[in-house]
Amino acid sequence: MSVIRAVALGCGHYLPKRVVENAEFEKTLDTSDEWIRSRTGIERRHFAAEGELTSDLAVNAARNALENAGLEATDIDAIVLATATPDQTFPSTATKVQHALGMKGGFAFDIQAVCAGFIYALSIANAMILSGQAKRVMVIGAETFSRILDWSDRGTCVLFGDGAGALILEARSGSGDSTDRGILSTDLHSDGAYNDLLYVDGGVSSTGSVGLLRMQGQEVFKHAVKKLVVTGEIAMKAAGITAADIDWVVPHQANLRIIARTAKKMGVDMDKIVQTVQDHGNTSAASIPMALSVAVARGQIKRNDLLLMEAIGGGLAWGAATLRW
Ligand code: UT7
Repeated sequence: MSVIRAVALGCGHYLPKRVVENAEFEKTLDTSDEWIRSRTGIERRHFAAEGELTSDLAVNAARNALENAGLEATDIDAIVLATATPDQTFPSTATKVQHALGMKGGFAFDIQAVCAGFIYALSIANAMILSGQAKRVMVIGAETFSRILDWSDRGTCVLFGDGAGALILEARSGSGDSTDRGILSTDLHSDGAYNDLLYVDGGVSSTGSVGLLRMQGQEVFKHAVKKLVVTGEIAMKAAGITAADIDWVVPHQANLRIIARTAKKMGVDMDKIVQTVQDHGNTSAASIPMALSVAVARGQIKRNDLLLMEAIGGGLAWGAATLRW
């Protein structure tokens, strides 16, 4: 049976120039490189320069993805951009990227599912391609979390970083089984009962301010491992594959201990897990597309490899997707 698949044509990422090593936090906080490294796996992160916006990071990642795919901006029908740190409340950051790239037609919009944002955006892009609404879609995850951190809270400010990643998908025909290239399955969940585990204490209609990130880290940790294992299994089942078939897991890069525990419970060896958390920290919606792009550039992910991507964050919102590269 012939089906439409959303096939990956190329990807790219961009990290702001400023690199901040763990040791820098020792100057202002009661923390240490040793604590951050051993509890999270994070060694450094990048922070955007003053005046450098989420859309600037996204445009650079998008240009790199276009180059990687051998395409021009005018070849793209739609941009779906996941961010929790937009340039402005409106218009969407996606339309700013659309304009900066020189895309004359098509459409662009933002979606917000915090750290699960890229999986949500991927699922929307996939649905638009399968329903014939778009042929080529650029999915972007872009964040400047450094703008919403409380620099006096050692439990959160050492964890996050800035960056952007982009992936270009195109409608192609497939046979309908798991040997097809492209997105094979997506699985989304959210539960607003857990809003207060991870949130920003401000907003347009509540405080009229941007607010700062607040997190009950240990609680999020427990939910993360359980929920990531379940959503990963649902996505693999929907694709007709098992953990033994997976070539690479591209997990949300929040904490190496979450990544390792989830991998163990799913029965996937750590040498099949893409790891960038040490260099990027947690970049929310940007973390998976950046890890994907880094793994492709490293030569880890190759054509026809079977990938499982999965993420969880504020909401709580979580989900997974399988994709044959
Ligand atoms: O992307 C969205 C999803 N977010 C996540 O996945 C984050 C999930 N949570 C985590 O990654 C971990 O819970 C953290 C890394 C945030 C914290 O690690 P933990 O092992 O759960 O530590 P904890 O919160 O239980 O804190 C242990 C101790 C506490 O001290 P006491 O009360 O035992 O004296 C904290 O105050 O570590 C202390 N602590 C720190 N010490 C040095 C917390 N942050 C720091 C720090 N440096 N930066």
